[in-house]
Amino acid sequence: MNETLKTIHTLRTIHGNFSVEEVSQLNLDLICEAILHTSNASARQSYSIIVLSDRKQMQDLFGYQGSRALIFCVDFTRLAAGAKHLNHAFDNDDIIGFITGSMDTMLAAQTAVIAAKSLGIDSLITNGLHRNNLDVVYKSLNLPETSCFPLITVVLGYPTEEPAYQKGRLGADFIFHEGVYHQPTPEMLEKMVAEYDDHEKHIGLVDNWEKMGFQHYLDWFYTKWSDEPNTEKIATGKVLEFQERLIKSGFWWPAE
Ligand SMILES: Cc1cc2nc3c(=O)[nH]c(=O)nc-3n(C[C@H](O)[C@H](O)[C@H](O)COP(=O)(O)O)c2cc1C
Repeated sequence: MNETLKTIHTLRTIHGNFSVEEVSQLNLDLICEAILHTSNASARQSYSIIVLSDRKQMQDLFGYQGSRALIFCVDFTRLAAGAKHLNHAFDNDDIIGFITGSMDTMLAAQTAVIAAKSLGIDSLITNGLHRNNLDVVYKSLNLPETSCFPLITVVLGYPTEEPAYQKGRLGADFIFHEGVYHQPTPEMLEKMVAEYDDHEKHIGLVDNWEKMGFQHYLDWFYTKWSDEPNTEKIATGKVLEFQERLIKSGFWWPAE
């Protein structure tokens, strides 16, 4: 296996227990430089990245802390301002702009994770910001109200302890479809349940579902971890907060 594949194969998340050791400015610069090489649609680099080094600020904003945090925001503000500057019209604030911008943004975040790992620096990808109140997040980070949405955070640092194991994944059979899409068969679903139940693989979020009285990991997952489906499809709570925020940002146009 080459060094790049080795780095990717040894990726694992540090769930917040980062030590006080700091990531050097040199290494941070290398990570940031790597991010800039990520593929991006229409050469827009439709993101802005906020770099945090204040651990309390991190804790308050998204519930974790490490040496540094990079907050990756989908962002068309720069390009819109550039258009104004040159007397052009530019507005990519719609759902397509949001989805395409999210792709650029998430890929940039994954580049950060891989670049960091290649330098011996660990990371946590977290959407903890979204558990905070989004109005508070916008205010605290001085985010533009329109054309900008904080998508994902990557915390960087060194762990206080090595994780006990590397987490597994469902294998290729479940993920790749030859030629066209194939719906999962009952046999495949049985196999999936068994994969999640395999204690050696550590695929799920918890290992002690039997002790909690569940036959299968997925019994725990569907009943205890996942939200109750909103069968009425009426936006309330966090869904409503997100929709309203996306409307405010201009990325989601309310139906007339
Ligand atoms: C979009 C996204 C959000 C995540 N949010 C959190 C989080 O808030 N807290 C956390 O501990 N891990 C979070 N993770 C990390 C996953 O839990 C982790 O990648 C997964 O359990 C697999 O573990 P591994 O990365 O060690 O292989 C997140 C990952 C992604 C991609």
